[in-house]
Amino acid sequence: MEILQVTNLSKVYGSKVVFSALDNISFTIEEGEFVGIMGPSGSGKTTLLNMISTIDKPTSGELKIKDRNPLKLKGDDLALFRRRELGFVFQDFNLLDTLTVGENIVLPLTLDGVSVKEQDKALDRIARILGIEELLNKRTFEISGGQAQRTAIARALIHRPALLLADEPTGNLDSKSAKTVMELLKEINEREKVTTMMVTHDPLSASYCSRILFIKDGAIYNEIYRGDSRQQFYQEIIDLLALLGGSN
Ligand SMILES: Nc1ncnc2c1ncn2[C@@H]1O[C@H](COP(=O)(O)OP(=O)(O)OP(=O)(O)O)[C@@H](O)[C@H]1O
Ligand SMILES: [Mg+2]
Repeated sequence: MEILQVTNLSKVYGSKVVFSALDNISFTIEEGEFVGIMGPSGSGKTTLLNMISTIDKPTSGELKIKDRNPLKLKGDDLALFRRRELGFVFQDFNLLDTLTVGENIVLPLTLDGVSVKEQDKALDRIARILGIEELLNKRTFEISGGQAQRTAIARALIHRPALLLADEPTGNLDSKSAKTVMELLKEINEREKVTTMMVTHDPLSASYCSRILFIKDGAIYNEIYRGDSRQQFYQEIIDLLALLGGSN
């Protein structure tokens, strides 16, 4: 089953001086895939993510998430769609520091009016998967960057979204924490079948994906699939980035 269908998506910024940031992009993501998006700075990665996450609207083209077109939804319906079907992870974690780790994680369920009993059950489960059971009563300033990102991932997944969207999730992490976070994302993708799309500059983080789409000048330049060896995939990614040029 296709979770995401992007068809001839274009984005032009500006009115007097126009800039084409995305030029007729088409691709699909199947249920259970872990897709990385890579490309030089300014190639349109964040623009693409913003279209899919419905933060911004494309100039033309079609978008379908689980066979529904979020571009046709408005107001409360769009907010509900976004909250139910999508999970977000950002480079800078975006946790609320007035809340505890546990309160941050259950926030999407609180907003959805889920009972406290159900919230606790879901929290137990997701905290165990991410190995943060011991942190739930801590405040966000008492935990490390890696722990903060695991908290953010738990929050993004607690309502079992159809699609997890991540923009540079390891961008603010040291290499050891980045590895832990990527191993967890891969494990969650494989075990829980969470369909994931992740923008990253980091070839090592990207090597945990099952497929990488390379973007250049707002268009798809190439795509590669991982075989059995992550090490070999890593090398292929490095080679393609070199071919792509620009600053990654
Ligand atoms: N709001 C905007 N108005 C005008 N131009 C924009 C706007 N947002 C982005 N752009 C331009 O669109 C292009 C793509 O930007 P985008 O942020 O998608 O790149 P990116 O691939 O995410 O880059 P980076 O790797 O540096 O994060 C860039 O040339 C950028 O200057
Ligand atoms: Mg970007």
